Amino acid sequence: MAEDRIRLGVNIDHVATVRNARGGFHPDPLRAALLAEEAGADGITAHLREDRRHIVDEDIERLMANISIPLNFEMAATEEMLKIASRLKPASACIVPEKREELTTEGGLDVISGYDNLKVYIGKLKQAGVSVSLFIDPDLDQIKASKELGADKVELHTGSYVDAEGKNQEDELERLRAGAKYCGEINLEVHAGHGLNYDTVEAVAKIPEFTEFNIGHFLMGEAIFVGLEETILKMRELMDKARG
Ligand code: PXP
Repeated sequence: MAEDRIRLGVNIDHVATVRNARGGFHPDPLRAALLAEEAGADGITAHLREDRRHIVDEDIERLMANISIPLNFEMAATEEMLKIASRLKPASACIVPEKREELTTEGGLDVISGYDNLKVYIGKLKQAGVSVSLFIDPDLDQIKASKELGADKVELHTGSYVDAEGKNQEDELERLRAGAKYCGEINLEVHAGHGLNYDTVEAVAKIPEFTEFNIGHFLMGEAIFVGLEETILKMRELMDKARG
């Protein structure tokens, strides 16, 4: 594997969203994860939300038992999620902010105001052998605090970049560049994710410090039309092309 290659983590939450729209077992997020693995995904990401609106506990158990690539377990910093992560020991846990009313994870964690609380969760997860990532906005102070907290890595929220247009989008891209560069300077592994699609992935993939992208909603939406394998292969190709 080329050193420059960015890992692609495929988020399968929205397979579960479709399944849950009717109850029952179809479509099965595990099947999507196995297909993603076959198509060359480097990891699977799943977010067990407090309200279980998409992924449910049994999905996480089945993913852990059946996939051969690392599971990135997205979780809120709660005792309930800590217990699950400590028992199942996914390869990594990405701590995200969670609000019941939101449609999706709308912004990054406020690591500065949640510093003392997060320190406890990071410590316990690491003690359980789980590598810890914090999902934050591309803000230098948040990055600095994440490093001080002992996080193994951060994932920079790309939502503001994806949603912006024109000059604003260039400004948001610059924030991602500056954030990733700073992570490189302080030796903190840096990932990116949220809302990435074929139109927006290349510019972010050109930023050399990023080592992993976690992408879900767009891939699953596109898979409806052309299938998951083709969708993942195309995303992979765009990411590789951007890295030259
Ligand atoms: N990374 C994190 C931490 C997330 O919370 C999400 C959304 O669940 C994603 C990546 C993937 O975002 P999207 O589904 O918009 O690609």
